[in-house]
Amino acid sequence: MKDRKSDKAFASRLIRWQKAHGRHDLPWQQGRAADPYRVWLSEIMLQQTQVATVIPYYRRFLGRFPDLASLASAPAQEVMALWSGLGYYARARNLQRAAQEVVARHGGRFPRRLEDIAALPGIGRSTAAAIAVFAFGARAAILDGNVKRVLTRVFGIAGFPGEKAVEQRLWALAEALLPEGDPIAYTQGLMDLGATLCTRSRPRCDDCPLAAQCLARREDRVAELPTPRARRAVPQRAVSVLVLLNRGSVLLERRPPSGIWGGLLSLPELPPGKTPRRYADARPLAVVRHAFTHFRLDIAPLLLKVGRRETAIEGIWLSLKRLEQAPLPAPIRKILMGLI
Ligand code: ADE
Repeated sequence: MKDRKSDKAFASRLIRWQKAHGRHDLPWQQGRAADPYRVWLSEIMLQQTQVATVIPYYRRFLGRFPDLASLASAPAQEVMALWSGLGYYARARNLQRAAQEVVARHGGRFPRRLEDIAALPGIGRSTAAAIAVFAFGARAAILDGNVKRVLTRVFGIAGFPGEKAVEQRLWALAEALLPEGDPIAYTQGLMDLGATLCTRSRPRCDDCPLAAQCLARREDRVAELPTPRARRAVPQRAVSVLVLLNRGSVLLERRPPSGIWGGLLSLPELPPGKTPRRYADARPLAVVRHAFTHFRLDIAPLLLKVGRRETAIEGIWLSLKRLEQAPLPAPIRKILMGLI
């Protein structure tokens, strides 16, 4: 499939590119020896959030909690307040729990061993490796969403990367690709390439240092990789609804408070099965299709003019002139708007 030579080319091209074009001025890259606390904080903030958003939060957080001990002993409310706006708040809770564990189990010194880092709350295999690399210069493989995209494209790996077998293959590949030296430039290069050139949409392949060896590019499969999650077949349901008209008004029913369209006004539904005889003369209108999150609903309206006392349905007569203000589900509104 691949050979040591192309693995070596992958790493050396990436490292060269990172040194010339990668990111070097991020706040957690500043300063002499890397501070594991700062590296850890930045990696947690960067887990689901882009660099530009993270930077002001990172600075404010460090201003208030300059070291691990101050974070461990802070009131939880204050930690949450400084996280407020970044989202994914479990990250902040885990961060403080991890700081407390480092104090309790490691004497307040951030652990160096990959397994010890990965055992802390909120730190998965890839984040643990990133911290070990950036804080301690370790040789460890990362595999976050950006790296998965780079690897599936360069090595032409199909299949949804969230699937166990595909993910295992990607981890094996990430390990095999690790160069002997320069782990920091290599790891930062993988992240930077995924974030700036090998982007999900409109990747800049012309500027990519790996273009010459990229299988997706050679086979024109860049847009197909990584393979998206398989869409589950959406269940389909169909209902018939009655559009009973009387002198410019339509009969509506209040939906039960919970469930689909809870509490809104809607058209009366016919029970599934055969249309009752008294609606035999009704005129079928165009079916309206509506996509819910978990199923698709085809709504078949039946139009009938009736006298107000002819119907057994307990409902509300609404003048078609007042449709705009009525609390109606969108597809029902669409059906009724077709009448005026
Ligand atoms: N995303 C996650 N970690 C990162 C880092 N160290 N630099 C840039 N983007 C990142």
